[in-house]
Amino acid sequence: MRRLYQLKNITINEENLLLQETIFHNANGYIGVRGTLEEGVSSKWDTMRGMYLNGFYDVAPMKQAEKLCNLIEDKDCMVNVADTQTIQVLFGGERFFMTEHNTRDCSRTLDMDNGITSRSLVWNTQYGKEICFDIVRMASFSERSLFVIDYQFTSEDFEGDIVIESGQNGLVKNYCNVNDPRMADEGAVHLQKENHCIEDNAGYLVSSTIKSGLKVTSGVKHELYLNDSPCPLSDITYEEKDHRINYVFKFHIKPGDRVRLIKYTIFTDSVRWDDCLEKAMEKLDYVTSVGVDEFYNRQKAFLTHFWNNSAMEISGDDDLNASVEFNMYQLLQSAGIDGHSSIAAKGLSGEGYEGHYFWDTEMFMLPYFALTNPEIARKLLDFRYTTLASAKENAGLLGHKKGALYPWRTITGTECSGYFPSGTAQYHINGDIAYAIILYYKATGDWDFMREKGMKILLETSRLWMDVGNFCDDKFVINCVTGPDEYTCMVNNNYYTNACAKYNLEWFVKLSEQFSREESAWKAFVRENNLSTDEICEMNRAQENMYLPYDEKLGINPQDDSFLQKPVWDLKNTDQNQYPLLMHYHPLYLYRYQVCKQADTILAHYLFPEYQDLQTEINSFLYYEKVTTHDSSLSTCVFSIMASKLGMKDKAYQYFGDSAKLDLMNTHKNTKDGIHAANMGGCYMAIVNGFAGVRIETDGIYLAPQLPEQWTGYSFRIQYHGSLLEIQVTEDECKIQNLEGSPVRTVLYGTSYILGKGKSISVRINSKTA
Ligand code: BGC
Repeated sequence: MRRLYQLKNITINEENLLLQETIFHNANGYIGVRGTLEEGVSSKWDTMRGMYLNGFYDVAPMKQAEKLCNLIEDKDCMVNVADTQTIQVLFGGERFFMTEHNTRDCSRTLDMDNGITSRSLVWNTQYGKEICFDIVRMASFSERSLFVIDYQFTSEDFEGDIVIESGQNGLVKNYCNVNDPRMADEGAVHLQKENHCIEDNAGYLVSSTIKSGLKVTSGVKHELYLNDSPCPLSDITYEEKDHRINYVFKFHIKPGDRVRLIKYTIFTDSVRWDDCLEKAMEKLDYVTSVGVDEFYNRQKAFLTHFWNNSAMEISGDDDLNASVEFNMYQLLQSAGIDGHSSIAAKGLSGEGYEGHYFWDTEMFMLPYFALTNPEIARKLLDFRYTTLASAKENAGLLGHKKGALYPWRTITGTECSGYFPSGTAQYHINGDIAYAIILYYKATGDWDFMREKGMKILLETSRLWMDVGNFCDDKFVINCVTGPDEYTCMVNNNYYTNACAKYNLEWFVKLSEQFSREESAWKAFVRENNLSTDEICEMNRAQENMYLPYDEKLGINPQDDSFLQKPVWDLKNTDQNQYPLLMHYHPLYLYRYQVCKQADTILAHYLFPEYQDLQTEINSFLYYEKVTTHDSSLSTCVFSIMASKLGMKDKAYQYFGDSAKLDLMNTHKNTKDGIHAANMGGCYMAIVNGFAGVRIETDGIYLAPQLPEQWTGYSFRIQYHGSLLEIQVTEDECKIQNLEGSPVRTVLYGTSYILGKGKSISVRINSKTA
């Protein structure tokens, strides 16, 4: 079955425009282009007409109400770069412009096998003549600097002169929304004019960012065909004004004529290239010599490989299947893979959260890549390695004498969170990054990465824990931090944070022992990092004695030391229009209640099952369920995973459903600002780690698949240490096959098998809990 997401017979209007711009955006990990309409929309409509480059940023002031010591005063922000989307066509002087009355058969499609989006429609001129439009867009995965618009139209019965105006605008603004804390509150201008030129029928605009002093070049070139015959580009005229180039084509068409305008855009920037103008010229020459059709082939080949590793199918629910594919595809589109970038909370689909990277990457998205395309996971970790020095500086700003503290939100590695109680205070980000490194290592066995980079990060994050926490009556405690739940801030001994810290320290100590067997490499590591045996012993003592709060009476892990002392928020009697609470209540008011924005202790239970027993997990699940609003999109997926583990099948399915279609159904009502990328990874985990109970360990894969009653089966592929496994679950059995690679130890419902290449095992499906 083809992987398509399609809306047929639609009208595009003020209500759904922004949402569609997100859903049909094109991205390739470097360029992101909102699914805006080439011809533009009514000036009264709200549109986020954006094109973004991952990791390309400007610096904007961060207003602080009071000038307290070492509060940050500016922040990175993703820049809306040159707009090369504009294409306007005039038929006998009448501009093509969609309204509800002059358009029919409009459909929009995201084709995830071919890596393109398309919009097709029939448009009526005011004189009742019909033109059929077919507009295809692609952000190329094989050449990440390339974005193409393949703009085609056919005249049914129009005859006359037409004018095509194709635009390239180097000075654009960022979007803003003063009423939403998740958006920038000023529509800032970040770009200024540097340079422009037209060479060999291609136009280049070089702009620079106002504060960060970076440069970006857009290069645009066209090919024009009338009924498949190339039209000479000498017929183009160029209008240049205010750092804009308008390419104008004029000709005559008859009924039946088909026009195809291929618009190539190349983006380059000075984060990646010393001379981005020269690089853009080189790349534009290259891509136009290769031609768009070959890039379509390469796109398909790239995606065939991608889906081969990530294939997942749910039988018995086509809609859900489509949503899950959609989510996986969005993760691919969002992932920066050049070490200069990571995955923003909204991917490259919009300006929500200003293009910042959070813990979302490591805890929710990286696990998906670690299991399907580990080379992407590694690139995401490279980014954290590249920014380790900034994390050390950040720790210094917070008064720490040693260690690194990763920023809560960032583009370049510096802290960009203005409100520290629910930002910088989320020290768990260190443990999240450590967790992701260990997961990557468990899934791949890539010791080279660990030796070169991973161990350094584990060391510096461990050092930070030792500095932020302290021993108290033999217990290691961590005070005044914020856990994942942003409705409870600045607390002592957040269970999640302490569990993360324990895991981070435990694994650093364990892997140090392994490392020390490589004598000379270990010696160099010890020397370079000024590491002593005493320091490692102290870390071990801290992890062994880490305080993990437990309440005897309730038999649960309290979220922190004071959580259970607070009154419980009456969620049942809270009006639906009061959600999300953060938009309706002062933060301090929320902090004094037992009310959670998102999974916190429950996430710790999923990640660190060895730190508590099953009964505590059950009690805690039932307890936190009653006080959690899921106002964050990072929540229901985690509840689904734990419900699966705890045998609460209905709940697992219900939470999963809330997560799977969150963006396609716009259930949080803010998909217009961009996708919820972490939730998409969480949805994947709810299937693989939840329903199928997959756990990755250094000695093999552990599984305990269950089949949700609503499905007739499901299957997926995962990689482990270079081998590709396929897991198929049906109503009767669970089959695991090693498709390629070396033998893998597979522990299924507690029984261990060694699965060689080409071999499979099938066992009856066990409906009991894991
Ligand atoms: C969540 C955070 C998350 C951020 C970006 C917030 O609403 O509470 O956990 O990192 O969104 O997705």
